[in-house]
Amino acid sequence: MFTNNFSDIEEKFNIQFIAIESLEQTEELSKAYLGKKGVLTALMETLKSLPQDEKQAFGKSINILKSKINAKLLQKKTALEEKELLSKLLQESSDPTLPSAPLIAPGSHPINQVLTEVCEIFTALGFSIAEGPEIETDENNFGALNIPEHHPARDMHDTFYITNPNSTGNLLRTHTSPVQVRVMRSQNPPIRIIAPGKVYRHEAVDATHSSVFHQVEGLVVDEGISFADLKGTLDIFARNFFGEKIKTRFRPSYFPFVEPGAEVDITCTVCANTKTYCPVCKGTGWIEMLGAGMVHPNVFKAVGYLDPKLTGFAFGMGIERICMIRYGISDMRLFYENNVDFLKQF
Ligand code: DAH
Repeated sequence: MFTNNFSDIEEKFNIQFIAIESLEQTEELSKAYLGKKGVLTALMETLKSLPQDEKQAFGKSINILKSKINAKLLQKKTALEEKELLSKLLQESSDPTLPSAPLIAPGSHPINQVLTEVCEIFTALGFSIAEGPEIETDENNFGALNIPEHHPARDMHDTFYITNPNSTGNLLRTHTSPVQVRVMRSQNPPIRIIAPGKVYRHEAVDATHSSVFHQVEGLVVDEGISFADLKGTLDIFARNFFGEKIKTRFRPSYFPFVEPGAEVDITCTVCANTKTYCPVCKGTGWIEMLGAGMVHPNVFKAVGYLDPKLTGFAFGMGIERICMIRYGISDMRLFYENNVDFLKQF
């Protein structure tokens, strides 16, 4: 019955193969050729009776044909399985052949963009970047910054407390100012750092308040640092960040860790010199930008900087705030809502 004419066998297989329409038929054909009682298996049996010098060539031809048939059947099987899966999926309600939703090019969040830009402006001025943990000690967040227990300044810095005895701190820092303490306790002057990061307040969320927001702290300590250095530095920052025409104004203010302390305003970015009423600066022509001042002697004492020739300045600004001023955003909550229409504008 069997022929050892390999091309005949292959031709016959190909005719049967083309007619296959189902997985069952694929299986049957596989059995018919490769199975225990299959054509090729039987052919292999005849090998024994062949003269020695023909055995090798014969065996090789069988193996070549075997692997050809095997490959074709496997390919067919995969294709039929895919077809079956697709038709099953199509019967379900979704249509996997529909094009997917358009991809939105990823970008960094406006807060991160502004943070990066602020860091770039200050590093160009010779500042380096320092970091501190978000879980802080009472001492670093308040005590060493001249805010002792029961000091009224703590009222504005209500925060979240941690009771875990294994924690290195007991509260979520309310400002980036504790990084000043960490840097001064671990490095000798001269110091010229900025410290960007997240801060926390136990506060109701509204258009201008959030329980989590971002700040950048600045600290410079050396012999002979003066208020003029502070003014010059912040002036350069304001012009770089908001535009060449921007002017700064220092108003006396109180922060326990600086003396004298100031609030720094910039000329209104919205109304500029127009005489019409402006809702952003409320007609004053000025917008509050940040807090600053000369490092308080009690802070130097707390960190162990005892050389009387040392002076320094510090400042702290809210990143959301300067971002809102720059882009004319009136509601801080927009930064945290992940609204793509809002975010893709940046
Ligand atoms: N830490 C202050 C706050 O969050 C901001 C601040 C004011 C930082 C004056 C300073 C400074 O370094 O000198 O309200």
